[in-house]
Order: sequence, then structure tokens, then C-alpha cells
Amino acid sequence: MSSVHPNGGSGNVSGQGSEASAQAVRHPPFVGRGTQLGALKSAVEAAEIGESVLVLLAGEPGIGKTRIIGELASRTSVKTLWAACWEGEGAPAYWPWRQVVRSIGANDEQVLAEATALLDQPNPAEPGAGSRFPLFDAVAGGLANASVVQPLMLVLEDLHWADDGTIKLLQFLARDTRPRRLAIIGTYRDTDLDPAHPLSVGLAELVRDGLHISLGGLGPRDVATLVSSVGGEGSEETGAVARLHRQSGGNPFFLWQLLQLERSDGAREGTPPSIRAVVSRRLDRLPGVTRGTLAAASILGTDVDLALVASLIKHSGTAALTVLTAAESAGLISRTPDGGFVFVHALVREVLYAGLDITVRAAWHRRAAAALEVRYGDARPAEVAHHLFEAALGEPDERCLSYAVRAAERSWEVHGYDEAGHWYARALQALRPG
Ligand SMILES: Nc1ncnc2c1ncn2[C@@H]1O[C@H](COP(=O)(O)OP(=O)(O)OP(=O)(O)O)[C@@H](O)[C@H]1O
Ligand SMILES: [Mg+2]
Repeated sequence: MSSVHPNGGSGNVSGQGSEASAQAVRHPPFVGRGTQLGALKSAVEAAEIGESVLVLLAGEPGIGKTRIIGELASRTSVKTLWAACWEGEGAPAYWPWRQVVRSIGANDEQVLAEATALLDQPNPAEPGAGSRFPLFDAVAGGLANASVVQPLMLVLEDLHWADDGTIKLLQFLARDTRPRRLAIIGTYRDTDLDPAHPLSVGLAELVRDGLHISLGGLGPRDVATLVSSVGGEGSEETGAVARLHRQSGGNPFFLWQLLQLERSDGAREGTPPSIRAVVSRRLDRLPGVTRGTLAAASILGTDVDLALVASLIKHSGTAALTVLTAAESAGLISRTPDGGFVFVHALVREVLYAGLDITVRAAWHRRAAAALEVRYGDARPAEVAHHLFEAALGEPDERCLSYAVRAAERSWEVHGYDEAGHWYARALQALRPG
């Protein structure tokens, strides 16, 4: 537990010079999020005058939940208490609340003693609303007392890892009516939330009793600001910004990793391992069929064409739709206005594609070419040619040659001379393999 936010914002790091400068290196300058920061500030100001609030802040890993609270903490004089849930097994029940009790207990020995004794019972998480009440009452009372003396902002991080008791206590606090000057802000990854998780179960009630803020990707303008803050060759070109925005989906963590890599290498080769690790972890959580379907979609590019995906994995359109809808719930793809799907980050697609076994990849490219031929006849030779070349694994055949020439001719007809040049070069490659 700490009154210093762990991520980014320069806030309460006074007196910690080396940490502050290390953070400046590790974290990008803060950009955007004006609306959300405004809403959070209002919630804290309301708490200061006794209108206590609960705010839930949701978003995928790396989207900036912790950072925005860090920024908030640096812009308010209200004391901030941080507590975090623990991933995986091994943490005692009510782990974040134990951290909270310990920190307020410094001001209120009685609360500490009372709540700690209750928390240290053999099984404090054991249900039975009755048996829980003394504990809930002690914590709520302690927080209320402490916040009357000095307004508090209580941050409960990573609630997607919370145990049932932790969520129940949060629900209790959200409804508690005793006088207090307390803002509670809970963060969670909505992409990592199992439907059976206590937070999923209690979410509707918590949202009803509080404010819900969902963080999406940074917009192109914020991405441009962040990119130009880093400087570097070509960093301010619109094309470079658009590419970084598309790849990262506006996720600041992904964006920062890409920028760091470009800065150190000059050019980006492959996906940075740090991003691959985050994306892979998210993919590993998916059922095999969802992962497999997304992997098939990665063959086709950033747009996810339902019918083509279905034909690659030899499923019906309905079955593929069910699976893609699950992937949408996991935040890996999103709906387009015309009802299709698109990868949320091009990086997700890149990681999936890179992870494919080379022979599977080739087979799917071959199937994609065949499906496109069936669907479009001769109308899209470049797409078919692309898949045929990828399927050929460096040994292009007659069909590659034929489609490359057709793609070149089609590009020429519509004055796409660069494109035509590209396809004639590919055709030559097919004529003289190796
Ligand atoms: N608005 C922003 N401007 C600049 N950098 C940002 C912004 N938001 C987040 N970042 C940076 O992006 C990285 C990831 O942010 P953060 O740790 O807050 O994500 P998170 O949503 O809390 O992720 P997790 O779910 O993994 O905890 C950090 O380096 C952070 O400083
Ligand atoms: Mg975080």
C-alpha cells in the first residue's frame, strides 16, 4: 500500500528523484484522456464534500488504467491509498482490503485491531452474510472515520483478480451510508473477466451504485502527440503516425513499446517481445477453437471476413460467427459499422500469424486463394496472387506467375503503376525462382 502511484504520472514522487527520472524513461509523457480525467476529478471533488462515490475503470491490459489514476493522484491534494489484487493463487482472502486496513490503521489503531482480528479468523471469506457483517462494518467504519479526518481516494487495482469476499466488501462499501469523504476507484481488465468471476456477477450492481468509465485506444491526434514527443527520424510524418496508430490500436503500452524499438533499432523488425508476451497471454486465455479461428483470420489481414474465415477452418458461417463473437467479447476483434469484424490491433494479428506453423500457414493461404477465386472470379487477382505466393513457400509455381501478371495488368489499367511494378517483379520471381 502506498500513497505514491506505481505508474507514470509525476504526482507524488517528490523527494524520490532517482525514481522520478527512472519513471520518465520507462513511461511516456501523458497524453489525451481529458474527458475521463475530468470525470475522475469530479468524482474526487464530490467525495471531498461528502458525496462519496465509487468509480469503476475498465479496459484491456496496457490501455492506461493505472496511469490515468496516477495522473489524477498528481493533480489532487486528496490522499491516495493504493491496493492491488494479486494474480493467481496464494493471496489470502480480502488481500486488497488487508492492505487498506493496514494503511488506515496507522491512523486508527482500533480499526486496525478489529478488522485485522476479523480478517485473521480461520476463514474470513466463508460466506454467510451474517458472519461477514462485523468485518464489513469494521472496514467501512474505519474508512469513514479516516476519511472524515482527511478526504481519501482509495484505489483498488486489478479487480479482475479479486476474490469473492473482496467484491462483496466493495459492494457493501458502495452502499454504505455513513458520513465519509471517500472516493473509491476500482480498476479491472474487462478483457480478462470470466463470466463466473465474482466481479462479473456483482458488476451490474456496482455500476448501478457508481460510475463506470471504459478506456479505449488513444485517438490519432493523441498518438501523434506521443510520437512527436519521442522525436526521431520521420516520427512526425502522418504516415508513420497512422501506421503506429493502426498497429497499436491506440493502446499506449503497445505504442510505447513500438516507439522504443524504433528508436533503438531505427526500423521495426517483427513484433517486440514485450508486446508478443502481452498478446500471447491474452490469446492463451481463449478456448482453443477461438484461438484457432482468430489464427485463421490472421491469414486474411486486419479485416476479418466471416465467410472466408469459415471456409478456411471448414466451419459453417454460424459456427464461425459464434466463435468470433466470443473473440469480440475478449476484446481482440471489434465490430465494424457494416457488421463485419476487424482486429482491434494489427499487432494481435501479427502475433497470431507469426505463431502459425509454416505448413498450416501455407495450407490456409492456399485455401484462401481458392475461396477468393470462387467468390470473385477474376475480379481480385492481387489478393489471390498474394495468397498463392505465401502458400508457395518461396517456390512460386505457374499459378503464381499467372495471377501476378493478371494483378499487374489490373493495376496498370487503373493507373496503379507502383503496384503494377510490384506484381511484374513478383511475376519475374515466379519465372526465375530463387
Ligand atoms: N494517456 C497516456 N499517455 C501516455 N502514456 C500512457 C497513457 N496511458 C498509459 N500510458 C502508458 O502506457 C503503459 C501502460 O499503462 P498502464 O500500466 O496504466 O495500463 P493498465 O491499463 O493499467 O494495464 P494493466 O491492465 O496491465 O494494469 C504505461 O507505460 C503508461 O505510462
Ligand atoms: Mg494497471
